[in-house]
Amino acid sequence: MRSSHTRSVILGTGSELPARVVTNAALEQLVDTTDEWITTRTGIKERRILEDGKGNSDMAYRAAQRALRDAGVEAKDLDAIIMGTVTPDYPFPSSACVLEDMLGARNAFSFDVNAACSGFLNALAVADSFIRTGMIRHALVLGSDTLSRLLNWKDRGTCILFGDGAGAVVLGATHDGHKGILSARLKTDGSHVKTLYVPAGGSLKPASLESVKKNEHTIAMNGKEVFKIAVRSMEEISRQALDEAGVSIDQVSLVIPHQANLRIISALAERLKVPMSKVMVNLERYGNTSAASVPVALDEARREGRIRDGDIVLLSAFGAGFAWGAAVIKF
Ligand code: COA
Repeated sequence: MRSSHTRSVILGTGSELPARVVTNAALEQLVDTTDEWITTRTGIKERRILEDGKGNSDMAYRAAQRALRDAGVEAKDLDAIIMGTVTPDYPFPSSACVLEDMLGARNAFSFDVNAACSGFLNALAVADSFIRTGMIRHALVLGSDTLSRLLNWKDRGTCILFGDGAGAVVLGATHDGHKGILSARLKTDGSHVKTLYVPAGGSLKPASLESVKKNEHTIAMNGKEVFKIAVRSMEEISRQALDEAGVSIDQVSLVIPHQANLRIISALAERLKVPMSKVMVNLERYGNTSAASVPVALDEARREGRIRDGDIVLLSAFGAGFAWGAAVIKF
């Protein structure tokens, strides 16, 4: 258990999913796939896709407004806005800066964190550290991604997996020794950069006619490799976060894993010896929403009454990098 007297607590949550639904049946029209294959291999039935002309910050704004309302905190009281995303509105500045202006959060400093699907966990850990040191009192932490913009709609190995969404939490400082973020652990292994990445569009290979023609601005992935390492890594970091919190897995009321693939989630639950009844799953409706997956699931779990005062929740995520993380939170 941490010794610091100040902890961060989740004061409110919110989420936003775009209105446009793309079913597996719709994808059958685009690539050589079937609803049956997608359902049995991934658990995904449909996903949401952001309409053209809108950016990441449009979703983040709605999720943020809901989280602020839920928390009873005004935008002007935010000291920091930290967003996990790999799909900011612009290469720079950050989507968090765009959001700060949309919210009128004039007293906040804002930046994005790039840790792919683990982005929310990384953003949460950073905000938690700022709060525990006393540097800030209120933070808006988001995971918000529009991976639809990075998909090759002719690649059946990737386009069936992902969707768009945004999730937000408002963190506040507390001296109540019994609740809040009990632990947060992060890890990366950069030797797997090219197992899951977007080859062009960065400084190494800026956009060119050739890069566009070769589809190098879309996600390239070795799915089997990701699968194997995701299960192992999320198990390991979940156990580390539980140890740091001084909490046993039996004390956890709900596990909220990254929503990438139902088979990954089931394998993780099995390794952690947690029944699926204690695992939050919503990927059948949204697919893998990258950094948004954990905060969207957290918000839904709260609204469905699956998290009550005193409950201990384990968050665990994994993504490109590879980067992964886990956190234990007492509500
Ligand atoms: N529809 C139909 N067939 C498909 C398909 C699709 N959408 N995608 C792949 N296939 C085919 C393959 O071409 C292959 O055919 P072959 O045997 O004739 O070569 C067969 O299905 C099996 O492919 P494979 O890649 O071995 O399937 P899999 O069981 O590993 O499932 C993933 C593929 C992508 C669903 C799975 O590996 C996965 O979820 N990995 C993790 C990816 C992930 O979560 N990434 C983000 C992490 S944040």
